[in-house]
Amino acid sequence: MRVLITGGAGFIGSHLAEFHLARGDEVHVVDDLSTGSLENVAPFHDSKSFRFDCADIRLWEGLPAAVSDVDRVYHMAAVVGMFRVLSEPEAVLATNVAGTERVLRCVAEAGARPRVLFASSSEVYGPVGTHRLDETDALLVHCDTAKTQWNYALSKLAGEALGITYSGSFGLPVTIARLFNTIGTRQSARYGMVVPRFVRQAAAGEPITVFGDGLQTRSFCNVKDCVRALDLLCEAPEAEGEIVNVGNDRSITVLDLANLVREMAGSDSPVVFTPDSEAYYRGFQGIRHRKPSLDKLERLVDFAPEYSLEDTIADLLAAARPAVQGAGATS
Ligand SMILES: NC(=O)c1ccc[n+]([C@@H]2O[C@H](COP(=O)([O-])OP(=O)(O)OC[C@H]3O[C@@H](n4cnc5c(N)ncnc54)[C@H](O)[C@@H]3O)[C@@H](O)[C@H]2O)c1
Repeated sequence: MRVLITGGAGFIGSHLAEFHLARGDEVHVVDDLSTGSLENVAPFHDSKSFRFDCADIRLWEGLPAAVSDVDRVYHMAAVVGMFRVLSEPEAVLATNVAGTERVLRCVAEAGARPRVLFASSSEVYGPVGTHRLDETDALLVHCDTAKTQWNYALSKLAGEALGITYSGSFGLPVTIARLFNTIGTRQSARYGMVVPRFVRQAAAGEPITVFGDGLQTRSFCNVKDCVRALDLLCEAPEAEGEIVNVGNDRSITVLDLANLVREMAGSDSPVVFTPDSEAYYRGFQGIRHRKPSLDKLERLVDFAPEYSLEDTIADLLAAARPAVQGAGATS
C-alpha cells in the first residue's frame, strides 16, 4: 500500500508513518516543519519505502501528483495547540481551511480515488460537554465573547464540511475522525498540550502548573491506539462519508492527572494553579468536560483502546528523563 501523510513530521503523523512502514507500506510525508520536526521522522530516512518533502500544503506544486499516486491520504497537517491558535488566528484559518480545501480539490481532480482521512477535533463540540459527546450532538460556538479562541474549532468544522461536500459531490471516499486528546511520545509541550507539560515539569522537579481550578475533565488516548483506529476506519467501506469520534472514554480531572504524573515520576514538584486569564487571556472560555461516545467507532470497526493512561505516562516519563538530565548537564 502507498500512503501520503500531510503533517507526517508531526506528533500523530509520524506515528502513522511508523505504523505503515512497520507493515511494509510505502510512506510519503509532506510537512512544512512549522510544529513538526525532522527528528520525528529521522528514524525512517534510511528506509527505501520512506519519502519526505518539506513543503506547505497550500502551495506545494507536487501535491496533485502526490495524491494521484497513493491508496490513502491521511490529512493531518494543521495549525494546532491553544497557544498557536491564540497567537496566529489567521494562520489557523489559512492552513486548516484553505489547506484542507486544496488537498481535497487535488484528490478530486486526480483520476485516482485514494481513501482520505481528515483529522478533525473534539474541539468542534465547543464548550458544551456535560455528557459523552456523540457525533449527532448539535454544535455551539460563542464567537462574540471568545474572540478568536474558536478559530481552530471553526476551521475543523469547515474542514468537515469540505470533506462531506467532496464526498457527496465528487464521490471521494472521505472519513472524518474527530480526535479527542491524543498523547504519546513526540508530542511537544510548546503549544499548550497538558500531558507533555506535566511530564516535563515533573521530570525536571519544577512546579506542575494546572490551568484553571483543575476540576475540568479530559479523556486521553494513546497515539498508538489512535493510529490503529484511523487505519481501521480507512479499511472500513461503511466509514466512507462518515464523521467518527476517535479516542478513549476514560475521563480524569486535570488535577488528578497532575497528581498521577507527580506520583508516577516520584517527584517532589508542587502542584500550582494558574488562572485561565493568566495562562491564556481574560475572557478565555475553558471547556469543563470532554469525553467521547465511542459507540459509532465500535459499530463501524473492531476497536478498543489497548493502552491505559498509566502506560502512556510511564512511556513519557521514560522518554523525558534523559532529555531533562541532558538539558541540566549542558546548562
Ligand atoms: N494531538 C491531539 O490531541 C489532536 C486532537 C484533535 C485533533 N488533532 C488533529 O490531528 C492532526 C495532527 O495533530 P498533532 O497533534 O500531530 O499536531 P502536530 O503539530 O504535531 O502536527 C501537525 C503537523 O502539520 C504540519 N503543518 C502545519 N501546517 C502545515 C502546512 N501548511 N503544510 C504542511 N505541513 C503543515 C506541522 O509542521 C506538524 O508537523 C491535526 O490536524 C490536529 O488538528 C490532534
